[in-house]
Amino acid sequence: MTGVAPQSAVDPSSAGFQKNAARYQELLATLRERMAVAMAGGGDALMRRHIERGKLPARERIELLLDVGSPFLEISPLAAWGLYGGGVPAAGAVAGIGLVEGQHCMVIANDATVKGGSFFKETVRKHIRAQDIALQNRLPVLYLVDCGGAYLPQQDEVFPDWGHFGTTFYNQCRMSAEGLPQISAVFGGCTAGGAYIPALSDEAIIVQGTGRIHLGGPPIVKAAINEVIDGESLGGAAMHTRVSGVTDYLAADEREALAKMRQIVRHLNMPKHGSAEPPRAARPPRFDAAEIPGIVGADLKQPYDVREVLMRLVDDSELQEFKPEYGATLVCASAHIHGRPVGILANNGVLFSESSVKGAHFIELCNQRGLPLLFLQNITGFMVGSEAERGGIAKHSAKLVYAMATARVPRLTVLIGGSYGAGNYGMCGRGFAPHFLFSWPSSRIATMSPEVATTVLTDLKRASLKGPGAEHEIDDLARETTEQFTRQSDPYYATARLWDDGIIEPAQTRDVLGLCLQVIAQGTPRATGPSPVFRM
Ligand code: COA
Repeated sequence: MTGVAPQSAVDPSSAGFQKNAARYQELLATLRERMAVAMAGGGDALMRRHIERGKLPARERIELLLDVGSPFLEISPLAAWGLYGGGVPAAGAVAGIGLVEGQHCMVIANDATVKGGSFFKETVRKHIRAQDIALQNRLPVLYLVDCGGAYLPQQDEVFPDWGHFGTTFYNQCRMSAEGLPQISAVFGGCTAGGAYIPALSDEAIIVQGTGRIHLGGPPIVKAAINEVIDGESLGGAAMHTRVSGVTDYLAADEREALAKMRQIVRHLNMPKHGSAEPPRAARPPRFDAAEIPGIVGADLKQPYDVREVLMRLVDDSELQEFKPEYGATLVCASAHIHGRPVGILANNGVLFSESSVKGAHFIELCNQRGLPLLFLQNITGFMVGSEAERGGIAKHSAKLVYAMATARVPRLTVLIGGSYGAGNYGMCGRGFAPHFLFSWPSSRIATMSPEVATTVLTDLKRASLKGPGAEHEIDDLARETTEQFTRQSDPYYATARLWDDGIIEPAQTRDVLGLCLQVIAQGTPRATGPSPVFRM
């Protein structure tokens, strides 16, 4: 594609395109519906009660905190989707990256309309994931606190272990020690774990009247030491700002607290990477991103040329493709997104030895040139069979895994189709800690597809089962396996459990990636020093 104007073979008027687009519209309608539910928080009645108490919804607080017109790169809005009978929208917290005083900040806001803002296990995961992103990208963290601490019925899943509530506090301390500011504003009742969020912050603001901080609320105090005291005297804003010194600033209302937080950020004296210009002027793609659904469709078995997707994501649709005539099932290309350079690895079929080593070689080039890597996953796995094994597929695929895992540059991943088996690993799945990982609503993630899993498990069973009733048992197993793998490979199953940073629409992908590239530009390099290129 070098030196020639990019050409697309897509015909939007064709029957296949139209059918794909129509089917994808249904997926997008479902996604939008679910996003609307998650964004509504704990529902009308609880939201009304919240507002009647003079409090603002968590999302409105964020809007008031961010610079006017700032984008908000939200993380896992559908966390806990489908769990707890739908009773914990967004896992009771909103998290994402936005600009405050021109500075990229991670914002984590509890939603008190969802079980008093208490922490379910998905809330803890989301909170820790947001902190990890902040640490990796050197972002200050702004906590908008309105939190009842650990969700007590789940105490064994949120309290004692590594990766539970304690880790969120460990992270606060460690980030502060690394010079990443931790600032809290307290808007509601913060009990026990909820109290430690402001208490472990570098600076804390509290709202008069509604903000409360106590390790144990009045009922616990009564039970523990038989002291009878009201909440305001025990942990109110005036007491904490004037007597205990737990908080540093008293705000008359929520707006004042948010304005104070902005003022603190204004004086942080950190480099303002957020507004840094990209190295090259951004140019829109020559082909419309709205056409992507018509190209990819919802049926993962339907092949398409991934270059058609890339041409709708990158600046001017310009791809400098590496080894275009070798290892055809992995497209490797340098490009720009919103003016920022990136090295892309995109599946175009099953990974063979040739495509694997080509990917490893390309990653080395990106290391040497300082190009962040973008993995677009649509992969059933690496090639199997005697020919592939004799050709050393295990060692060649390992080269791709090794090069990807040890890459010195930031890595981004988008699941645009299937994410199966070792293909998930080679293409920088969650286990390999990419800086960000998003999914499309048409994606699927599992060790293998439902059909393959059903064949594998029933074959194993058949070998051990004989006699009357065996076939009946095998039929049951086949049905159960297909159902299990279908349910568990669904992207909503994945995003609910925070296996990704959120489901995004194909047409939003370019902008999301542009924001990610802007954010990671300010992070810590994964490694420094010379980076050789070994020809594979
Ligand atoms: N664990 C389990 N459920 C909790 C909870 C927690 N930590 N905190 C609040 N909830 C639940 C409440 O039981 C209530 O559930 P319901 O709607 O099914 O009745 C819902 O969340 C809302 O709580 P409510 O007390 O009505 O809200 P509020 O806005 O008046 O008060 C708090 C919010 C957080 C101040 C208050 O709920 C509280 O103090 N919770 C207990 C905190 C605690 O002791 N935490 C210890 C954790 S280690």
